[in-house]
Amino acid sequence: MTLLNPTRRLLLQGVSAAALVAVAALGVARAKATGKAVDSIEDLISKMSIEEKAGQLSLFSDPTRFQGAIINPTSEQAATKDRVYADIAAGRITGLFNGIGVAGAREMQKIAVEQSPHGIPLVFAGDVIHGLKTTFPIPLAEAASFDTDLAFRTARAAAVEATAVGLHWTFAPMVDVARDQRWGRNAEGAGEDTFLGSQFAVARVNGFQGSSLKDDTSLLACPKHFAAYGAVQGGMDYNTADIPETTLRQTHLPPFQAAFDAGALSTMSAFNDVAGVPSTGNHYLLTDILRGEWGFKGLVVSDYTSEEELVAHGFAADGADATAKAINAGCDVAMQSGLYNAYLPDLVRNGTVSMATVDEAVRRVLRVKQALGLFDNPYRSLELDREKTDIRTAETLALAREAGRKSIVLLKNEGGLLPLSKSARIALIGPCIDDKYDYPGPWAVFPDIATCVTMAEGFQAAMGADGTLTMAKGSHYESLYDGGIDEAVRAAEASDVVVLVIGESAGMSGEAQSRVDISIPEAQLTLAEAVAATGKPVVVLLRHGRALALTGAANTAPAILATWFLGSETGHSVADIVFGDYAPQGRLPVSFPQASGQEPYYYNHRATGRPQRTADREYKARYREVTNEALYPFGHGLTYGDISYGATMVDAAKLKWNGTVGVSATVSNKGRRAAHEVVQLYIHDRVASLTQPVRALTGFRHIDLAPGETQTVTFTLRRSDLEFMTAKLRFAAEPGLFDIWIAPSAVGGIPASVELIA
Ligand code: BGC
Repeated sequence: MTLLNPTRRLLLQGVSAAALVAVAALGVARAKATGKAVDSIEDLISKMSIEEKAGQLSLFSDPTRFQGAIINPTSEQAATKDRVYADIAAGRITGLFNGIGVAGAREMQKIAVEQSPHGIPLVFAGDVIHGLKTTFPIPLAEAASFDTDLAFRTARAAAVEATAVGLHWTFAPMVDVARDQRWGRNAEGAGEDTFLGSQFAVARVNGFQGSSLKDDTSLLACPKHFAAYGAVQGGMDYNTADIPETTLRQTHLPPFQAAFDAGALSTMSAFNDVAGVPSTGNHYLLTDILRGEWGFKGLVVSDYTSEEELVAHGFAADGADATAKAINAGCDVAMQSGLYNAYLPDLVRNGTVSMATVDEAVRRVLRVKQALGLFDNPYRSLELDREKTDIRTAETLALAREAGRKSIVLLKNEGGLLPLSKSARIALIGPCIDDKYDYPGPWAVFPDIATCVTMAEGFQAAMGADGTLTMAKGSHYESLYDGGIDEAVRAAEASDVVVLVIGESAGMSGEAQSRVDISIPEAQLTLAEAVAATGKPVVVLLRHGRALALTGAANTAPAILATWFLGSETGHSVADIVFGDYAPQGRLPVSFPQASGQEPYYYNHRATGRPQRTADREYKARYREVTNEALYPFGHGLTYGDISYGATMVDAAKLKWNGTVGVSATVSNKGRRAAHEVVQLYIHDRVASLTQPVRALTGFRHIDLAPGETQTVTFTLRRSDLEFMTAKLRFAAEPGLFDIWIAPSAVGGIPASVELIA
């Protein structure tokens, strides 16, 4: 549908004739010129004033329809409704973010298309990180499913809900690889592994964007934060990322490139500097690599005032300088600072920024708006009906429950304590068990909190009248309260088994929630010791937005499940696994260290010259207090089956340069329950021109195994699987020997080797 031929539908949607004329600029230009959309954008750019161009490059949070959680520092720009409406009419705003509600969006869109100088439609954005009203597991949890189809489906469902409330653009997926668990934003990503992260990046982009960006349910994706935000030193949010370029390119950039190859048309520049150059003023990142090497055609938006922060970084002298440095580096859109509106016109007049640079940024923005179909129909995704019908559908809630279930990782199950019987006497203990507010998890901006299913509700629903459920909070998240422990101990004593839900509160991870100590808070550890002292068997359900360092009774409990933050259907998902209605299948996307002080602790670290391979402690790469083994390694996750792996076999000892080698192993379930196994392929390059990871994930496969069943799993290995980022800054494989494991985790498996020959 074009605006030259307004259909009845558009008129029925309330688009007035004046609006059609105003927005028709593109359509007219398109008709007069060659019929190619790009000509109409050029025509439009040629008519815009520099002030209006600056407006197209300025994005603001929406103070008029904000209904969610406060997620950012307040700002001058979070002004009144009158101010926002006036700015839209004056063409000073390209779009708004983190407001939802179709009626208000239509009102603002009407002003944009009818009153602003060239009637350019607004784009509405939001942080839809793990669902909207229906909250799915936090992205880190979902990565534990190792199930990219699941990630595709939850992103698709999130896009349906988000577009139903009037959003066009999500600031997701976060594709930052995070190897330091102190960093609070681990919760938003896919964990510590680049290969896994790239697979999830693609799945999420495809899910958000759907088959065509123009579709009413398609949401523009924004892989973020470009770049190396996950590498902030010491895991402290916003800190510097001082990494060599080989690490930048080998570890941190591939998920971005994969996301852009999948069609993501926007990205967000990170807060941090990389090797001294803040990302938002980083020409090498935003222009040379992103557009030059990768051919990215979308737009770059700054992260919430990060262009303004070039001043605090000491990289720019003042707002004008920061504006020039950001736009000249390739940052097209300023989020929230208002700097581009304030300074771009003068900077162009005095020649500090060329009109060509501004035009190129505007061109990128308009092309994205065009790709979203906003010029054809400014009211796309602004339908009052869908806002009622497409939210929290039965299908979406079922998906949330499934996603929750598949994200849970069984870390330990001594003596087959799990699954529990629904007719047991169970004491459910922990500060969050009926705290609705904790259930959406971190970075949930628009959740429907009241309908979140708590652990208390989930257990009650699963057990019905069969068993006895006694509940006690026991402690607050980070402090004790009078009588709490006593009540918990009484509940434990009256039970056959204790289910102890401990860990972080939702507010302890997410943005700006870095921790020096990634243990369970002291108060809850005290609770855990008191409960364990009753002698009752204890199942620990961890709540967390990162890997944890487990100590004391939280560590020695016979059964432990990693349950992260699972969103809307948490209680049901957890009960599905605890009572054995479904088999656990999750795998850790992050390594659990033995102690916080080991961070950054990740499985695929480079080989050192003094590895500690045995109990030998002298002059080895180790700490005094702990061994180097993970408490629970990357990829680890048990099932209710009894799984064993045969030795890794290769069908040829040599891999020819352009050839393939089949790598296989048998996987057996000797247990009495069905199991779902995530079979993993790891490689290690024995000798290379740069030190290589001790192991690197190169593939994984899901299989279902009935009791007593054995399957042979085969992977095909190619040279491309053996490549690394060389000192010449190119991915290449080097001939020589490689170790290969088919394994249940980053530490298991019986290896084979293969020689790559040139
Ligand atoms: C975060 C981004 C987010 C933005 C807008 C920033 O503080 O770093 O990830 O998209 O706010 O809410």
